[in-house]
Amino acid sequence: MQIYLDYSATTPLRPEVIAAMQKAMTQQWGNASSLHQWGNRAATALERSRQQVASLINAPTAESIVFTAGGSEANNLVMQGIAQRALAQTGQPQHVIISAVEHSAIAEPARQLERQGWQITRLAVNPQGAVDPQQLQAALQRNTVLVSVIYGQSEVGTLQPIAKLGAMTQAHGALFHTDAVQVAGRLPINVQQLPIDFLSLSSHKIYGPQGAGALYIRPDATLPLPIITGGGQERGLRSGTQAIPNIVGFGVAAELAAIEMPTETLRLIHLRDRFFSLLSDTPALVPTGDPRHRLPHHVSFCLPHTDITGKTLVRQMNLAGIGISAGSACHSGQLSPSPVLQAMGYSDRTAKSGIRLTLGRHTTAADVDWSALVLKQVLSRTIATASPLLTV
Ligand SMILES: Cc1ncc(COP(=O)(O)O)c(C=O)c1O
Repeated sequence: MQIYLDYSATTPLRPEVIAAMQKAMTQQWGNASSLHQWGNRAATALERSRQQVASLINAPTAESIVFTAGGSEANNLVMQGIAQRALAQTGQPQHVIISAVEHSAIAEPARQLERQGWQITRLAVNPQGAVDPQQLQAALQRNTVLVSVIYGQSEVGTLQPIAKLGAMTQAHGALFHTDAVQVAGRLPINVQQLPIDFLSLSSHKIYGPQGAGALYIRPDATLPLPIITGGGQERGLRSGTQAIPNIVGFGVAAELAAIEMPTETLRLIHLRDRFFSLLSDTPALVPTGDPRHRLPHHVSFCLPHTDITGKTLVRQMNLAGIGISAGSACHSGQLSPSPVLQAMGYSDRTAKSGIRLTLGRHTTAADVDWSALVLKQVLSRTIATASPLLTV
């Protein structure tokens, strides 16, 4: 039996998405900027997709959606683009606030800005991985231009109090961005009711193709300077001929996610809670993240009482036909502790032990039951060989 439990890493394409992409590849392959009928067909498909993506987050206008090549690019566009805009206006590096649990597509651009002389504040999180709004209040400075806090943390599942953080930031006069890549399509997002200026989306987390994403920009927000310049596509904010098949796939995926969300989210929450409860009698597995304010499809643990790394468990589970992921990244063969678990207060050793099991459209209750059983068996075998003194 093969069970995929890594829907936070990527999701399989929906058949409807494949059909729409195939049509785009065969009938809408023109350059959307061309003035002839081939271009018009591509442009029509592009604008329909913009509408579909806008609807997923209740954006006030389709124009507030800027298509990018993915969530990473959307994050980079807002971080680098707003910094460049502020630099152009003031002539000097200013101040940016992020959280200590950002995805690398925010953490890295922040490091890059730091090297260029920007002041970066990384907001500490509590042991559940949540930012305390009071900390943000204390961190805001006169020269803070941008605050970026991840909406749903990809490694530990914690949802941040985005509405409070956004309201504080805007009341202070700074811009607020959230990386909603893991939240979109899984929980309702209404950007007209949220005090946010920018929001990042990615197609391949919602059963669309890889290589498409979007940045939502509130209609009267300060615009980032483009990081890719050229032909001036996407309102001049992201040059380059639009990848119509990918964007069409993204649009269809967004539309279907919106339609199915009310039932699918409840189903996932039920499966997620079932998973946690099946493993609650396994003391070696300590749940990570916030148990209540949590992504609906997200199950995660660390193993503080063992020497086992997340990578070892991923390999063992893979041998048993189950695809899960480890929190920490592997660089040049060296396993480094997860910065997210470290920020939550775990030791370096424990921060190498994180695992994540993320559920999706194809996950059934039987998959959850079987995976929980296999995980227990794998764990007890691994513990018996690695640390004979410990029992599961
Ligand atoms: C929270 C978060 N932000 C950004 C990204 C990057 O998105 P993409 O793969 O579309 O560049 C991911 C993907 O793993 C993510 O989980």
